[in-house]
Amino acid sequence: MRKPRLWDVKDVPRLTRLVGRPKPTPALLADTVRPSAEEKRIYRLPVFTAPFCQALLQELEHFEQSDMPKGRPNTMNNYGVLLHELGLDEPLVTPLRERFLQPLMALLYPDCGGGWLDSHRAFVVKYAPGQDRELGCHYDNAELTINVALGKAFTGGALYFGGLFQAPSALARPLEVAHVVGQGILHRGGQLHGARPLGTGERWNLVIWLRASAVRNRLCPMCCRTPDLVDDEGFGDGFTREEPTTVDLCVLT
Ligand SMILES: [Fe+2]
Repeated sequence: MRKPRLWDVKDVPRLTRLVGRPKPTPALLADTVRPSAEEKRIYRLPVFTAPFCQALLQELEHFEQSDMPKGRPNTMNNYGVLLHELGLDEPLVTPLRERFLQPLMALLYPDCGGGWLDSHRAFVVKYAPGQDRELGCHYDNAELTINVALGKAFTGGALYFGGLFQAPSALARPLEVAHVVGQGILHRGGQLHGARPLGTGERWNLVIWLRASAVRNRLCPMCCRTPDLVDDEGFGDGFTREEPTTVDLCVLT
């Protein structure tokens, strides 16, 4: 019987340089985050060490081989793992979002809700021969996305990016961004993108859709209309029912 492992954000040594600081400074950001394509607002940054990636992959494979019930990561990927099903939302993804990603995103994407991230959907996608090999062009149900390559050894599978999906000829001049194991690629959710076919090997990537209810409550990023909400569990799709902005008090006091 395999011993269960407890994960914590402290297991992510690359991030601990930034975690714990009240706010990453522009100087620290410049040292850590590299623009991959500044005009498209795509950035690359180191996220996980190689040993952390290997340990996480082992855990993911163990879960994949188990007979635990599993959902699909999203409507386009057939193979992978939902992080909350593995019990990694609370100890790993939520602290990553709150303590590390939100301060970065507030500086890089203040106009896309970067400073107001309050929920996420996190999943690992797997590409392998005989399984999913590529991903068609799409945009994410997210204000912002981070996509981290975990391994294993692979060729191909680069991401390509066009413009925002609402723009005419958004895919006229796509830009390719290669994966580097341990590194994350940051982009706006509404930016058209996809993944080129896998060449050889197996590719596993952690994708976190970052959501800001302050943005999506006003305009659904998928249908571009005022959201019409139905109840759901957990984070749902990241919408909230806003409270009235006024408060009451008693005139007699
Ligand atoms: Fe995507």
